[in-house]
Amino acid sequence: MTFSKPITEIIKARYSCRTYQDTPIDTELQQQLNNFLAASQTGPLGTVTRLTLISAIAEDTSALKGVGTYGFIKNPTGFITGTASTGEKNLEDLGYMLERAVLFTTDLGLGTCWLGGSFTKSRFAKKLGLHKDEHLPAVIATGYIAGTQRQLDMFIRRSADSDNRKPWKELFFEGDLTAPLSQDTAGDYIAPLEMLRLAPSASNKQPWRIVKDGEVWHFYLQRTPGYGKGILGLVKLEDLQRVDIGIAMCHFALTAQELDLQGHWEVNEPGIKTEGMLTEYVVSWCS
Ligand SMILES: Cc1cc2nc3c(=O)[nH]c(=O)nc-3n(C[C@H](O)[C@H](O)[C@H](O)COP(=O)(O)O)c2cc1C
Repeated sequence: MTFSKPITEIIKARYSCRTYQDTPIDTELQQQLNNFLAASQTGPLGTVTRLTLISAIAEDTSALKGVGTYGFIKNPTGFITGTASTGEKNLEDLGYMLERAVLFTTDLGLGTCWLGGSFTKSRFAKKLGLHKDEHLPAVIATGYIAGTQRQLDMFIRRSADSDNRKPWKELFFEGDLTAPLSQDTAGDYIAPLEMLRLAPSASNKQPWRIVKDGEVWHFYLQRTPGYGKGILGLVKLEDLQRVDIGIAMCHFALTAQELDLQGHWEVNEPGIKTEGMLTEYVVSWCS
């Protein structure tokens, strides 16, 4: 068993934690996390990934400012880094594998926060000995959550804080990208879709759109115009919205697997109309 609790509970407990205690992560927990990361070597679409836990030093936090991340991160004691080899779906695969690690870390009782930026030439890249054919689009800050007892309780009980998420009708469709999917039609897939909706995404843009087509669930990327150009166009970010799709795939598939809903991923463009919509087909879950 990879997780100690139901995946739905872990997904509901996760949030972007930006303030940590300065206590280093317990060696036993580090060991568990290292073992998990060492075993996370191939994404669901075949990309080779390399996931590593590195201890943070004070300079890492200030170094984050120069690489296009947003939001102030205080006292992270570790960073989970993930690199992907080149390939057509490499950023989706990396998003999937890193989010699986985020959920594992959440299950260990630690806080996490995704940080997306242009890390290729950063101190992280140097620490990892990044090869020229590897991509490092994001890192995950981690450590013990700082805060009052009330905030810590919230972390455990935070049930579906979906206030800041788009409603079903904007995300899930049937047949094409215009007809909203009803919960009745979603059937057994209500929970996987609901857990997908709680996934983190860069700037909370939630760029995923899902179309039910019989027994197949097509995943589309709805691009945010101008996103990824960086502040005033100065910092060129990696394509974080593709990473977001991998994160959504992870929440969806782990929940489906827990419910014993059989399925697998296939890339097979169904030809659904997307013209003029800034929408790109990515992958399908065939159940
Ligand atoms: C790929 C990616 C990149 C992100 N980059 C940053 C970042 O640079 N700084 C930050 O504070 N939060 C970052 N976030 C966190 C999002 O802002 C956060 O997931 C979103 O607002 C939803 O909030 P929640 O994670 O608390 O549910 C990132 C999230 C993702 C998935």
